[in-house]
Order: sequence, then C-alpha cells, then structure tokens
Amino acid sequence: MAARIIRKIVPVSRSGAAQYSSGVRKVTLIPGHGIGPEITVAVQKIFEAAKVPIEWDEVDVTAVRGPDGKMGIPQKAIDSVNANKIGLKGPLMTPVGKGYRSLNLALRKEFDLYANVRPCKSMEGIKTLYDNVDVVTIRENTEGEYSGIEHEIVDGVVQSIKLITEEASMRVAEFAFVFAKENKRKKVTAVHKANIMRMSDGLFLRCCRDVATKYPDIKFEERYLDTVCLNMVQDPAKFDVLVMPNLYGDIMSDLCSGLVGGLGLTPSGNIGKNGALFESVHGTAPAIAGKDLANPTALLLSGVMMLRHLNLHNEAQKIQQACFRVLREGRVLTPDLGGNGTCSGFTAEIIKYLDEPEH
Ligand code: IPM
Ligand code: MG
Repeated sequence: MAARIIRKIVPVSRSGAAQYSSGVRKVTLIPGHGIGPEITVAVQKIFEAAKVPIEWDEVDVTAVRGPDGKMGIPQKAIDSVNANKIGLKGPLMTPVGKGYRSLNLALRKEFDLYANVRPCKSMEGIKTLYDNVDVVTIRENTEGEYSGIEHEIVDGVVQSIKLITEEASMRVAEFAFVFAKENKRKKVTAVHKANIMRMSDGLFLRCCRDVATKYPDIKFEERYLDTVCLNMVQDPAKFDVLVMPNLYGDIMSDLCSGLVGGLGLTPSGNIGKNGALFESVHGTAPAIAGKDLANPTALLLSGVMMLRHLNLHNEAQKIQQACFRVLREGRVLTPDLGGNGTCSGFTAEIIKYLDEPEH
C-alpha cells in the first residue's frame, strides 16, 4: 500500500501563486447575502485606497434552477470563476428544508477546491483565553463526511457515506506539507480517528504518513481528534499546521477560530489546482444586515490571504497592518467586538492608517 501511494504522488502547484501573471488581475467577487454586500463594499474601498492592482468581476450567487431541474450556482458565476481562477466571496444563505445543498459547498465542489486553509493567530486587542495562538487548519474540502451520499435503507434507518479516497487524501496531505514548507512552519499534525474508522481514516492517515517522508525537515505527528480538541483548548502552542478530513476540519477550524476571537475575525481560503476562492466563513447575520453594523474583518483578511496568493505581498502587508492597528487601538470597533462603531467607520479608520506606517 505504502509503495503504491508514494508512486502516485503528483507535484501540486505551489500554494503561493507563481501561476499568476503580473499587471492588473481580474478577480471574481461574490458579495453574497445578508451582511455580505456591506462588508464587500468595505473591502472594495480598502483595496481601492491601497491601490491594489485588481479589477473586480462581480457576480450574484443565488440559487437558480438548472436544466436538470435542480437548484444550483448560476452559470454566469461559474463562468466568471473559471475565467478568473480566483475569487473573494461573502456569506451565502441556504434556505433550510427546501431540498437543496449549500451553495457554499457547491462552489467548493464545482471548482474542485480541495484544500481549505484557515489560519488562526492571536491578534493584539482581541482578548481571548490565550494570546499565543498560531495554528493553521488544513481541511480536505471535497469528500469525507461532506460527500452528501445519504439514503434511507428502510423506514427509520438512514445511512450516510463517509467517502475517503487515496487521491483526495494525498493531494491535501501534500498541500499541507507544501504549505508548511513555504510558510516556514515546523510541524504538521494529522488529525484522525483511525482507531474507530479504521479503513477510511486509516487511508487518510497512511497518505499523510507517506507524504511526510518526503519532507524530513517538517516534523510530523498523528493525533486523535478528541485528544487534539482537549489539548488545543488547554495549550494551543502545542500545535502548528493541522491536516484532517472534511468534517473534522469544519469543527476544528471553528474551535481554533474561537481561540482567536471567532468567525468574524478569521479568514479562509479554498484552494484547488485551477483556482482559489477566499471567503468569510461567518453567516449572513440577517438581523443586522443593512444597518452598517457588520464587522468586515473576516472578509478583509480573507482578501489579504488572496493578495498573498496573488503574490501581492506589499499590498497584503499594508492592509493587514492597518486592520490589526485598528483592532488593537479599539476605538471604532463594531458591536460584535464590544464597540459601538459602524462598518463604515471601521473601514474609514483602516483606510486612514494605510499610508501611515507605524513607528
Ligand atoms: C464552513 C461552514 C460551511 C461548512 C457551511 C456554511 C456549509 O461551516 O465553511 O466551515 O460546513 O463547511
Ligand atoms: Mg464551519
């Protein structure tokens, strides 16, 4: 098994962005629903003020009925992402109980965005249990418990298939090590329950082990999911980069996000071989939509991740530093962060600091 896996390793493209040309880049912009449009405007204003060389290609992603009768992503949005190969998206609403799958998931599937990257790093001014968190969760993003294969066997008995393939496990494991190497991280932890799900998590784990042998400079460890949850909340400094199947990644990334201030502050990137979509992971917050109260930080920092992916490091650094400064000074925070400021006030303050280097 091991030898077979090793032979199958295919080089993944860098998790950075050598593939992108210089000059003005066209980027698909999906504002989304609820607070999506206002936080998107905030990001656009900040990017414009920072003179980021990108042009937005804005598309709506509200479910439409396709030729097959199923609800899905509008063709215009699909075409845009296929053409631009890079996008930024706000939260999308999925009606519950209407019989269609989350469009958030559909986008990941459609473009085969197989690795979900969520860096969680403590930020000054954001008071949480720990001030030394610096972890990155890398989640397999296309299969596992999210494969959506469910059926009723007989009345009262349903089955849900957790699909794990060698191909998807190898590529996400490879991604995790490349990421660790490029970002000068020291350790990758594979998170699993192979003691219980011997075949599925067993395969995932074996793929991680095999890829690890190619990266002797990066420490590799394997840990049970429950143990990681326990250790993470007791001492997050124990961890660095974590790689895991889909559902574990969904849960662990929320847990880690909670350790640095929550989903309103945490960026996320979905990366594939032929494209990448950066997104804020929080919901649409309909209760505050349109009231200028939303916090644009998660979408902005996702945008910063996107800029790094596009090799626009100076712009990324400038925006991140201005955002962190506003959070640290804490004068114009939105209500979710305990302030009484507005989305537009917060945005204006970031813009003010863009060209004001700190001393
Ligand atoms: C996330 C979210 C999504 C998921 C939802 C919105 C479908 O929780 O990106 O973590 O479960 O993956
Ligand atoms: Mg989630």
